[in-house]
Amino acid sequence: MQQDPVCARYPRAVESDKERWDRKWRSRAPSEAAPVLDALSEWIPTAGKAVDLAGGTGRNALWLADRGLEVTLVDVSPVGLELARKRAGDRGLDLDTLACDLTVDEPPGPFDVAIIFNFLYRPLLQRVKSLLRPGGTLIFVQPTVHNLERHAHPSRRFLLESGEAPTLVGDLEVAHHREEWSAEGRHEAVLVARRPTPEVTLVSLADPSVDKDAVAALLTEVFGPRPNQRQLVDDWLGLEHSNVLLARADGAFVGLMIARLLPEEEVNEKYGSPFGVDLLEMTGNAKFGGFQLLAVLPAWQRLGIAGDLTQAQHAWLISGGATVGLGVSWDHGGFSGMGSSKHMFEAAGFQVVATDPEFYNRINAESGQDCRRCAPEPCTCNALLFLKEPL
Ligand SMILES: C[S@@+](CC[C@H](N)C(=O)[O-])C[C@H]1O[C@@H](n2cnc3c(N)ncnc32)[C@H](O)[C@@H]1O
Repeated sequence: MQQDPVCARYPRAVESDKERWDRKWRSRAPSEAAPVLDALSEWIPTAGKAVDLAGGTGRNALWLADRGLEVTLVDVSPVGLELARKRAGDRGLDLDTLACDLTVDEPPGPFDVAIIFNFLYRPLLQRVKSLLRPGGTLIFVQPTVHNLERHAHPSRRFLLESGEAPTLVGDLEVAHHREEWSAEGRHEAVLVARRPTPEVTLVSLADPSVDKDAVAALLTEVFGPRPNQRQLVDDWLGLEHSNVLLARADGAFVGLMIARLLPEEEVNEKYGSPFGVDLLEMTGNAKFGGFQLLAVLPAWQRLGIAGDLTQAQHAWLISGGATVGLGVSWDHGGFSGMGSSKHMFEAAGFQVVATDPEFYNRINAESGQDCRRCAPEPCTCNALLFLKEPL
């Protein structure tokens, strides 16, 4: 049997549970996805990362993978996980598996959606918030005590009290809750809850309240550790004609963007020449506003933060007299492999005017950075030059 990756504290797993479930999964026929998933599909995204906690042989994890999500199946039973991987292979679906005792450990998030079906460990429901990205969704389905009216199993200790489910999820926002006899003949609680998305505020790096070490920590989290991260932040403060804008939420920095009014000599030299275009000629000597860096924490991506930063920086560039906007993005994935800037530029109305597959190789060579998406292989990211005219 192929070895599963294991959580750090997996050896402390409740051995009896592991053995009991290994035995059960060896002898049970695999079942189909819970029908309630179809009914809940309006709350389940079609892209992003999902985790099925205590997911057994993966009947529901495969439903999520089939829907387009990148799924991690977590369970204490290696036999269950092995069966799930086989079923995924048979159906041509990708599935990551992780052997984990969820009473002591959990997988690293953040996830866009977490599901827990037929597994009752109340402290896990308290902790699940930390596995979800802001705006992420929990789906929890568990039989209630009423199930005993028709079935002897599961026994009482695995059953929820009536109305208990919403009280177990801490400060997640309950989006949907019902308790009823299911299509499979069990009386169960069905709960959909969301991790709230706190309000995002924008603040300038020059604001005296900004903790520069926290900004350096944001960069490290997005781009990985680099020498002089902290020095870089100080250097930005000295940059001429620049605006460094930070996004703050939940008391922490979650995103950052630099905009610059570009001196003419920089326009073609820095942006035009790698792409082989004469930007000043192309735009009739317009005054350029450039976006030099966008960083948004992985957990905060796809929440519109990049869009908020872009809009605010647009306004700043226009107030400084820029008539044309300029920016560079990766075709797919950046140094961090996340690749949201392309979508951000397109959403903000920018057009691709030139591409260069070698641009980032040259940047890597100059700066000594490796493209995190491609390393250790040579970078194959395609760079795109965007223009928006007029701003
Ligand atoms: C009733 S099954 C539910 C499986 C799946 N969620 C479903 O609905 O088909 C309970 C699952 O919890 C897993 N489990 C039991 N104790 C666990 C623990 N401490 N950590 C992780 N998984 C555990 C078992 O291996 C089993 O796969």
